Amino acid sequence: MATGNAKVCGVIGNPVGHSLSPLMHNEIAKAMGLDYIYVPCPVAEDAVGDAVRGAYALGFAGLNVTVPYKQRVIPFLAETDESVRCIGACNTLVRLPDSKIEGYRGYKGYNTDAEGLFRAMRDQGMEIRGRDCLLIGAGGAARAAAYLLIREGAASVTVLNRSQDKAEALAADMRRMAAEKSTAPPGSGMPPEGLSGSITAVSALPPERWRKLPGDSYLAVQTTSVGMYPHVDASPIEDRDFYKKIAQAVDVIYTPSRTRFMEFTEAAGGRVCGGLDMLIYQGVAALELWNPGVKVPREVVDRVRKIMEEQLHG
Ligand code: ATR
Repeated sequence: MATGNAKVCGVIGNPVGHSLSPLMHNEIAKAMGLDYIYVPCPVAEDAVGDAVRGAYALGFAGLNVTVPYKQRVIPFLAETDESVRCIGACNTLVRLPDSKIEGYRGYKGYNTDAEGLFRAMRDQGMEIRGRDCLLIGAGGAARAAAYLLIREGAASVTVLNRSQDKAEALAADMRRMAAEKSTAPPGSGMPPEGLSGSITAVSALPPERWRKLPGDSYLAVQTTSVGMYPHVDASPIEDRDFYKKIAQAVDVIYTPSRTRFMEFTEAAGGRVCGGLDMLIYQGVAALELWNPGVKVPREVVDRVRKIMEEQLHG
């Protein structure tokens, strides 16, 4: 139950009616007895800056940002976390403490999509450090996964995307991230290098040339929209033999809960994880940024997952 002292957060986007975040955050608040409330805030195209300043004026502790404002919100931030600078998109604003001297301080931007993916994978025992990885797709979701794979010290990442120019551009960005990480001074907040001490090797390969892949136990992250409802019979690579190369895979799609990509991977003997946990954990990571000291326990995550599955699949 929210009191007059409740911490208020919300989501800005256009539209926001379909967002599962209000349900998720308010269920977590209820389960944990937090004096916290989360509201949907539809924002018009030309009002993103007004919305951010207005939320600050209204005392909002934080905001989530969804489509189509994840990039457009960045100029209105007072500070940005490394996750936003590397991914180029922001999904979480955290209020900077008020200052009598500086007056309006605004929000610091974070991207918790990578952290959401990290926690979802960790729950499934999917370790990134030192692994040879496949990144399927090169759009917005791929950028969050790309940052995570570099951050966590993958041994190698091969980007497979329909448009080769986008795959090459993402691979180039990842090489820059990896180089920056390897030269980051101690105490800079950058995590330590991979176990091998070497920089993640990044390449791009046209998906139809997958047979060139030298390994046979990749960790794959599927980030394209292929296979998403209603096109549930599609998979980004149709050849079933490809899936023999995958030991573990995450699909960021959460409708359906089991994609064709996941089916093919499991049929070939691999382990899989769907996108709902990533969605839940990006929200949990934001809630924890807004409520310092709060750690959402596993049983609450499990309860919220059930409620969201009911909402999604009836
Ligand atoms: P998001 O922000 O959800 O990642 P996006 O930025 O539009 O969305 O990226 C969509 C991704 O899905 C891209 O990698 C896109 O491939 P292209 O770069 O070649 O466009 C991929 N994708 C979408 N439809 C596809 C299809 N029918 N076949 C293969 N890849 C597809």
